[in-house]
Amino acid sequence: MFQLIYLSNPATGLTRDGVRDIAVRSRRFNRERALTGVLVLSGETILQFLEGDEETVRALYKRILRDTRHVRCDMVMARHTRLRSFPGHPMGYCIADDGHACDLNRLLDGLKAYDIGAAEQMRLAG
Ligand SMILES: Cc1cc2nc3c(=O)[nH]c(=O)nc-3n(C[C@H](O)[C@H](O)[C@H](O)COP(=O)(O)O)c2cc1C
Repeated sequence: MFQLIYLSNPATGLTRDGVRDIAVRSRRFNRERALTGVLVLSGETILQFLEGDEETVRALYKRILRDTRHVRCDMVMARHTRLRSFPGHPMGYCIADDGHACDLNRLLDGLKAYDIGAAEQMRLAG
């Protein structure tokens, strides 16, 4: 399993509804390719967590990089794990309201620490 996280900023004109539409429309494509993950909009930052086969994830990321609906894409994590973190979610989404923007740094730390594969291995080892 390969997991990738990037941050970006919505381009001018990309509304919250637009971000939700991207997540919803992505599901069919992602399901067909066994990709799962989550898309978060918090204030003016987008965070996307993608996971699946490495080649498939990287190919989608290349397409996403070219998408003009967002700018300043910055990959912040890429790693191999044994298991999925978001099984059953072809693309979940979360729109955090401006007034209650979530702390993306904390979310990012949480996502990086959240390695079900490692937890499972420890459980099996123990
Ligand atoms: C922030 C963001 C996240 C996206 N996530 C996905 C995704 O998970 N899966 C997907 O198929 N397309 C996603 N897209 C859309 C792709 O960039 C692209 O528009 C879509 O795959 C259709 O590609 P095409 O226009 O070349 O047919 C995302 C776009 C943006 C701006």
